[in-house]
This record gives sequence, C-alpha cells and structure tokens, in this order.
Amino acid sequence: MCGIVGYIGDEQAAPILLDGLSKLEYRGYDSAGIAVYGDQGIKVVKATGRLKVLDELTHGGSMLPGTTGIGHTRWATHGAPSDINAHPHFNKDESIVVVHNGIIENYLKLKKRLQSKGYEFVSETDTEVLAHLLDYYYEGDPLEAITKIMHRVEGSYALGILFRDHPDELYAVRKDSPLIVGESGDGNLIASDVPAVLKYTRDVYFIENEEIVCLTKDKITFYNIDEEEISKEPTRIGWDMEAAEKGGYEHFMLKEIYEQPKAVADTLNPRIKDGKIVIDELGMTDEDIRKIKKIFIVACGSAYHTGVTGKYVFEGLARIPVEVDLASEFRYRNPILEPDTLVIIVSQSGETADSLAALREAKARGIRVLGIVNVVGSSIAREADNVMYTWAGPEISVATTKAYSTQLAAQYLLAVKFAHARGVITDEELAGYISDLKKLPDQIELVLGCKEKVQRFANRYLAAKDIFFIGRGIDYAISLEGSLKLKEISYIHSEAYAAGELKHGTISLIEEGTLVTAVLTQEELYQKMISNMVEVRTRGAFVMAVTNVGNQEVEKTADFVLYIPKTNRYFTNSLAIIPLQLFGYYVSLGKGLDVDKPRNLAKSVTVE
Ligand code: F6R
Repeated sequence: MCGIVGYIGDEQAAPILLDGLSKLEYRGYDSAGIAVYGDQGIKVVKATGRLKVLDELTHGGSMLPGTTGIGHTRWATHGAPSDINAHPHFNKDESIVVVHNGIIENYLKLKKRLQSKGYEFVSETDTEVLAHLLDYYYEGDPLEAITKIMHRVEGSYALGILFRDHPDELYAVRKDSPLIVGESGDGNLIASDVPAVLKYTRDVYFIENEEIVCLTKDKITFYNIDEEEISKEPTRIGWDMEAAEKGGYEHFMLKEIYEQPKAVADTLNPRIKDGKIVIDELGMTDEDIRKIKKIFIVACGSAYHTGVTGKYVFEGLARIPVEVDLASEFRYRNPILEPDTLVIIVSQSGETADSLAALREAKARGIRVLGIVNVVGSSIAREADNVMYTWAGPEISVATTKAYSTQLAAQYLLAVKFAHARGVITDEELAGYISDLKKLPDQIELVLGCKEKVQRFANRYLAAKDIFFIGRGIDYAISLEGSLKLKEISYIHSEAYAAGELKHGTISLIEEGTLVTAVLTQEELYQKMISNMVEVRTRGAFVMAVTNVGNQEVEKTADFVLYIPKTNRYFTNSLAIIPLQLFGYYVSLGKGLDVDKPRNLAKSVTVE
C-alpha cells in the first residue's frame, strides 16, 4: 500500500525522505517519488520500480537540495504503475504539489468539471485531481483551499502538500487513511506509519479524520475542517527502530517467525492474573458476557483464518454460536445482526479497508464491536467500541506470522474467559486451560527446532505445481493458513480442503507425486484423517503429516512426519502452524523469491 513521508527542518530533506520511504517499503509499492522545495522552486523526481532506482536517479537525494519536501511510494490503484502516475503530482504551474494515499471515489466527476474549466491532466490517477482542485480553490490561504477540497472530495485520503507561495510550511490532512506527525528537535515530519520517523523522533501525533496539520521547522499546528485550531497530545513510541529491522535474520519473515514465542507470551501474560483471565479493555462484565447470544468474527486473509479457528474454540469452549465472515462479504451481505450479538474484527494493521467498513456496518446497526488489533492507534483500534491489542510488535514481512499467532492467542483468552463467565467450565477446568495457555510460548519455541528438517524437505518441492493441505475441524483452519502462507510467497498453486470434502471433486487433481500436507492434531479425528490420507496416497500423492507427538501410527500412512508437542485440543493451531510457516518460507527462499515482499501484495490493504 502507498507510503507517505514529509520533512521540514534545517537538514537536507531528500535523504530523509528516501530513508523514511525505505522504512515503509514493507507496505508494498510499485513506484516512488519525491518533491523538494529548493532555490529553484519545487522540484519533483519519480521512478517506477524499487526505491533504489529513485535513490540512484537523485544520487541519494543530493540532486534535490532543499530542506522541505514530501515523498511517496505508490501501489497502483488508478492507472498503471509508471513514472507519470507515480506521486508527487503538480498543478499546472507547478506551484502546488501533492502526495496521496487512499482513493478519491468521485474523481471522475471532479476531473470532468476541472477539464471543463480548462485544467489539463497528465496522469491517469485520482490524485492529480487533488492538485488541480487545490489550485482551483487556492487564493493565497492554503488552509482555506484544503478545507474547501475536503468538502468536495469523496473517498479516503492522507495528503502531504507543498505550496510554492509558502516555502516555510508543509501541510497534511487525512480522512480514512492513516497519517502521523513526528515532532523532533531538528525539524518536523509527516508519515503514513511510525517506522518512517522513528530514526528522528519517538514523539508522534496520530491525526484523526478530517484534521489538518501545518508544519513549520519548529512548530506544529492542528486544525479541524472549520479551520479552527485544535490541540492534540503526542504519543511516545515505546518500541525502537531495531524492533522494526531484521536483527541478523536473512528476512523479516524468518525473524518474525522466531519472535512468536515472545509475541504470544506478551499477548497472553498480562491478561493472566492470579489464576484468572483479566481483560480490562474488554469493557464487559460477566453479566454482559452471559448475555451474548451470537458472535461474528469478521476479518480478511490470515486474520480471517484465525477466525475460522476461533469459531471452533468459542463454540467448543463457551458454547456460543459463531459465524465467521470475510469482511468484504460481511459488509455487503446485509447480515442478520440481532441484539446481544458481539462482532469481533480481527486485524493486524487496523487499517484494512474491508474490515474497517465491516466494523462501521456493525456499529451503525447498534452492535457492539470488539477489535483485536496489533497496530496501536490504528483506525480499527480507534473506532471499535473496545480494543484488545495483540502485542506482536511491528510486523514488516507482508506474509503475517507473529501477528497471526497473537490473534489466535487473543481469541483463546476470550473463549476461555467467556466459557468460565457463562459457567460452561468449572474453576478447575479454567485452571487447566490457563496452565495450557501459559505453556504455549515454550512449546512454540520447541517446534521451531524443526527448522532444518523442514528446510531440507522444502528444497525437494521448489518445482512443485500444486500442493494441497487437508485437515478436519481446527486442522482445516490450520490448513487454510498453511496453504495461504505457501502460495503467497512461493507462487506455487495451493489449496486447503476440509479433508472429507476432497473426494467431492478436487481429488481428481491428485496425481503421481503431488504433495498433500495432512494436519492431524484432533485425536478424535485421527482415524478419519488417516482414511483421507490413504485415499490420496493410493492415487499417487506424497503425504507430509503434521501431528501430535505420540501419534506414531501416522508413519504407516505418511511419507514424512513432523511432530508437535501435546497441548489442549483447542490450542493446537498455535503449534501446528509453525512448520507450515517454515515450509512456505523455505520454498520461497529456495526459489530465490522476494520473501518479504511478494509480488502484487501489500502489507496494509487500505483499499477495497
Ligand atoms: C497474509 C496476510 C493477509 C492479511 C490480511 C488482513 O499473510 O498477511 O492475508 O492477514 O490482508 O490484514 P490485517 O490483519 O492487517 O487486517
């Protein structure tokens, strides 16, 4: 997804912009550009491809002298990835320049109106409309022009703007697209995410919807849409840049896989107090919990997969009916939301457009929304009635691992708490579940020990065409995630199937040598799974199994077996997913692919 950085201060802006943009590379992008205000006015350089190209083109930024500037990494939505479509975008006489994240929904209408007034467009982007619209309204007062366009524009935006008439000012504004301001002794910054400014400051302001900010080198002033000055408090960022860098690992993905024991412990431990599960931020009494008649878990991608596991866990433990929904479906399918329903939105970034829209849909219908979110201060975190943070820390690799694991942990905590509050489990059983939860971080650590074995096995499948994942119950949910992890970073076609469903069509795809990964962590379903493994094996499949230690019988049917330690049957996902994450990682590595930034994908999907 696009990234924004802006700087105004005493230092040269371009190197700071390039450095800041490099910290946002994880968001995914296809082109980049910077605008710097120098002696000759505002100069723009843009380039398709990696930031390295822009860096080389500008000689590390030295070709653009000046101490004020804005930069952008673009992930194409309107118009193909190209130099022309890359941001920043100018108005006609190059006196106003804009970078934009988000989508202007009424841009075609606005474009036609502007064209009828003589404005000429050079790009296919929705963003260029903003530059010309600002030009149209600008009469010497940037704030006035910005608020005027805010009344005309529909959609989402975070903007960084420079006006040639105001060399000592940098403007920014947001609606439904993240934007922060960093305050440092050596100048001030804007960015779409905290890592871009962390090298310079830990004091950041989170800009809310329809707030405008004017930065000078030593002052930051906030305004509302009525041009009234407002005051805001900075937040001190606790984590540092090291946390967002690779720390010796070859890729962020591997580093983040290895951070899972800590991430899960950080998510679980603060909520386990004196033998009880205490989730203060839930804002619900036991009485409120007893009233819940139904839960919807709504999310996208891997976060949705945690919801599929969550359904089994909430239903099995707390006996509350659960529907799991893809946010992109939920928001348009007019779901039946009765009173006493709880909607849980799960999101690492807290900015996923469909998840945010689903949240708003539920809230508009008067339904209580709980966010399970990783990024503090993100849109979903702010808009949910209550937010339970997953403490995974910044996740940089596009393919999620540690955030996924903490989303599971958060749902386990909720399900056990709900089960106890509703009297479905006794105090003794509660103690047992808590003890199992507390063991998970060490058990994950133990499973990570299978790394070399998985790597050797993965290297045999670098040329595979199709790989299947099968499981039943929670093991089906694990298969969904194992399959996504593999396909998104290795580009090998892969599908996950509820094991009993395979024979209803898909089994015709199994041929000599096809790899089928079978997940068997649910003891009561072992025999059923073994039958399904036999079915594919007799059709030529090579079977890899992931199962609990002690289930040696599986070796008669599987060609390769990975064992995970025993845990409560509701928590097995946290352990069984580890070898599958490693498998995806090593196939991608073996194929020499860009593991952390797979093609066509973005870390934070802030458009529909
Ligand atoms: C896959 C992956 C995505 C995200 C999905 C939701 O590895 O990371 O499928 O899970 O885009 O993102 P968040 O959790 O930020 O809402």
